[in-house]
Amino acid sequence: MLLGHGTFLRRALRRPDLTGSPVPTGTALAVEIAAVVPRTGSPTVVELGAGTGVLSDAIRARLGPGSRSVAVEVDADFVAYLRRTRPWLEVLHGDAADLSSLLTEAGVGTVDAIVSSLPWTLLPPAQRRAMLADAARTLAPDGVFATITTLTAVPERVRDLVRCLEGEFLDVRPTSPVWRNLPPARLYVCRGPRHAVLPVEEAG
Ligand SMILES: C[S@@+](CC[C@H](N)C(=O)[O-])C[C@H]1O[C@@H](n2cnc3c(N)ncnc32)[C@H](O)[C@@H]1O
Repeated sequence: MLLGHGTFLRRALRRPDLTGSPVPTGTALAVEIAAVVPRTGSPTVVELGAGTGVLSDAIRARLGPGSRSVAVEVDADFVAYLRRTRPWLEVLHGDAADLSSLLTEAGVGTVDAIVSSLPWTLLPPAQRRAMLADAARTLAPDGVFATITTLTAVPERVRDLVRCLEGEFLDVRPTSPVWRNLPPARLYVCRGPRHAVLPVEEAG
């Protein structure tokens, strides 16, 4: 665990724009976000921005045999770390902005859950919107998308993120803040991807 923190801090000092935080997600928040992962069946779960694998471990703890756990990570050092320490994890080295093509290349079909800890509020609004739309489109009709937002994020950018989420999902729910996390954070849990559950003209 300390090895993970050291690796994370080194990358955060070099690329704060990618990590958005100097420390990995804490266990309590990791367990809370992983709770969206179905416990039954053999779901395909995609994690956006796996870092040193804290959320990957919490996701794995819920998955049964035959499930697929895929992590998309843009940073080469994190990718190497994840492949070394978590050989069971299917790590795709690439940008979450290219999610559909990365998943197609890896032979991943419909996705049951997307768990994200990407620093959405640091992205330019147009990029944020395009990436969220692409992510929503990979989900099954009963799929779920969950993302972390820290309470230290700029409120206007969080509002824009929520507007984007509401544009893609019928049901967007914030959780209560998890004060034990550093920094404190909450989740947005989103269900009902509009592209899959509404007729084309209504989904826009
Ligand atoms: C806030 S850190 C979270 C890491 C880890 N999941 C955790 O919860 O501790 C964000 C992670 O997303 C990765 N990342 C940032 N932008 C990305 C992108 N466009 N595509 C894929 N990964 C990205 C960063 O390299 C970093 O590992």
